[in-house]
Amino acid sequence: MKKQAAILMSAVMAASLAACGGSSSSSTTAAAGSAAETTAAADSSAAETSAAAASGSVENKDKPVVWYNRQPSNSSTGELDMTALNFNKDTYYVGFDANQGAELQGQMVMDYIKAHADTIDRNGDGTIGYVLAIGDIGHNDSIARTRGVRSALGTAVTASDGTIDSSPIGTNTDGTSADVQDGTLDVDGKTFKIRELASQEMKNSAGATWDAATAGNAIGTWASSLGDQIDIVVSNNDGMGMSMFNAWSKDNNVPTFGYDANSDAVAAIAEGYGGTISQHTDVQAYLTLRVLRNCLDGADIDTGIGTADDAGNVLPSDAYKYTEDERSYYALNVAVTGDNYQDFTDATKTLADVSNQLDSSAHPTKKIWLDIYNAADNFLGSTYQPLLQKYDDLLNLDVEYIGGDGQTESNITNRLGNPDQYDGFAINMVKTDNAASYTSILSQ
Ligand code: BGC
Repeated sequence: MKKQAAILMSAVMAASLAACGGSSSSSTTAAAGSAAETTAAADSSAAETSAAAASGSVENKDKPVVWYNRQPSNSSTGELDMTALNFNKDTYYVGFDANQGAELQGQMVMDYIKAHADTIDRNGDGTIGYVLAIGDIGHNDSIARTRGVRSALGTAVTASDGTIDSSPIGTNTDGTSADVQDGTLDVDGKTFKIRELASQEMKNSAGATWDAATAGNAIGTWASSLGDQIDIVVSNNDGMGMSMFNAWSKDNNVPTFGYDANSDAVAAIAEGYGGTISQHTDVQAYLTLRVLRNCLDGADIDTGIGTADDAGNVLPSDAYKYTEDERSYYALNVAVTGDNYQDFTDATKTLADVSNQLDSSAHPTKKIWLDIYNAADNFLGSTYQPLLQKYDDLLNLDVEYIGGDGQTESNITNRLGNPDQYDGFAINMVKTDNAASYTSILSQ
């Protein structure tokens, strides 16, 4: 009898998995529903320790995988790791449009400078000086933001192959750095120079990147040597930006710009924080789990995304884009400034359009393994995870959250010791190059 059930399950699961990769008919979706119930029954009744326990006959290498927040890619060249993105036909990436967001961040800083041209140059030397906190020199989001700010401010140096230099410069008090140049701005009949006075990767001695405490220390060092030459503080994210704001810029009335629209940063706009960018985490957290749900239901991948699901969930079309040849969903970004921050004060609120509870008989509970590369990351911990925890209930997913130390991949992969227990995986790598550390475990 058990054998029969197994055969039945494998037949239905095969149908459901086939459906997920492409478009599906409603009958396949319905079939998947029954497959899922069978799976749940197998789970509780037999409590089998065998490889088939969580997902019937589905092998780990065929289970859905979502990479999120850190796109599998070469950390030196940025080239996408298409092997990881095509690990199996139910593999996707969920992130946000890094270039569009980076451009917005640069534009936001430039708009601020223009609007405050009469007061921005604190020491009146004709040079608008800024310092820049860099998150991780090998992370494509971080690289894009550094480039976006430098291009908008005219400080970018472009190599012969067309790429903008994104290296940290150390200090550049006299404007002689080879990695940046001085920009020029004409505004209100005045001409200013714009200079990147200093930039640094905020990595702590143990190796954790995007490190807020390191940024808090760096601003102290920069302020003591550069003083009122610093007119603006820019950061690749709000975690580091807020650390610099609290340590120095707030008291010195120096506008500070970040990225992520974490709740504390949005609230700080009322106290002089210059602005931030929302990477639409409410959309990303939803997509991270939604894609897994669809694969496990054997539903068309667009269900509840571009096409309303049976509970009425559907994303607004201007909130994301899907790039099929990269197998990647990208949420779109919005600038959050003094003009609109009131609309962004709760960063952990789910998006109303996709907040309808799924029916648990049609979409039975599935078990997901999900890691966060660094349990101390401000953005992932204070914005992304709380959203995931709301959507997991709505989507009937039982998610086990694993928090890494931000430095060692094995700290996380060691806790993927028994993939048989899960129906799907959501992976946030420490280093974007390390996808194979995960897929090799799933392929065993
Ligand atoms: C966020 C950062 C975060 C990083 C972690 C980025 O998208 O903007 O705040 O530290 O992801 O990977």
